Formats: sequence, C-alpha cells, structure tokens
Amino acid sequence: MKINKITVGCDHAGYALKLKVIEHLKERGIEVIDVGTDSLDSCDYPAFASAVCKNIQNGITELGILICGTGIGMSMAANKHRGIRAAACSDTFSARLTRMHNDANVLCFGERVVGMGLAMDLVDQFIDTEFEGGKHQRRVDMITAIEKNESSAE
Ligand code: RB5
Repeated sequence: MKINKITVGCDHAGYALKLKVIEHLKERGIEVIDVGTDSLDSCDYPAFASAVCKNIQNGITELGILICGTGIGMSMAANKHRGIRAAACSDTFSARLTRMHNDANVLCFGERVVGMGLAMDLVDQFIDTEFEGGKHQRRVDMITAIEKNESSAE
C-alpha cells in the first residue's frame, strides 16, 4: 500500500518538530492534513489526538502521526479511540515492527525525546512498512475484540 495522504497533529511541545515532519512528508510527495496545533501556546494534547483519530475512523487517511513532548500522552489518548492502534516509538525497529505485527495506524513520538533525524527515520519506517497479516491478524483481531468488550483475550 502506497501512502499518499496522512493526518498529522501535535501539541505545543511537538509543534516545532511537526513542522519539520510536514516538510519531510511533502518532500516525499505525501499530502498532509494538519489538524493543529498551530503555535507554541500551551494546549491539551488529547484534543489533537482525537482530531487525528477521527480522520482515520472516517477513512480520510489510513495513517496518522501525533507528536507531543514524549509521545506517550498522545498514544494513551489515541488508543482510547475505537479502531485506533497507536504506537509510541523512539527507535526505528519499533516503528517498523509496529506496522508489520500490530498494524498500527498511528505513530506517536516526542519532540523532547527524539532528534530531528531520528524523527524522519521513524516516519519513513512507519509509512513504508506493510502489515504482515497471517498470525498477526489473529492477534490484532483479539485486540479489537477487547475493544468491543467481546473478550478479555485470556
Ligand atoms: C506537555 O507539557 C506534555 O505533557 C505533553 O506534550 C506530552 O509529553 C504528554 O504526554
């Protein structure tokens, strides 16, 4: 699957890095939907997590990127949304494997954690890697069943 459009969001702590990520994505010919925030003014990250997740839930983009200070708050908020599998990553192996094995649809990272070069590599690994399916599909289905309260996955 070739990704040609992606939704990106951040809070104030991820704003500067988000601008670089958007530049990088556009250089790669990927259309970006930027849901904010639009400044360094303090704001609440869950609102932007929801904006990115809604675009994925509505099928507007298949993948999203969320940037805050650590990537952790964004991933916690994103994972409360039905159908969202968000992964906070600060290494490229995890960014690749979370696509291959978890079919993650949102990548989260922290501007206070990763440098600019690593952030671009995380983005590239995430969007260039396909879900492997097979036994991993069964496990992703188990996550979905937990979300629907159909199973405790025990
Ligand atoms: C904001 O100060 C910070 O708490 C936020 O960006 C994020 O790191 C939360 O997880």
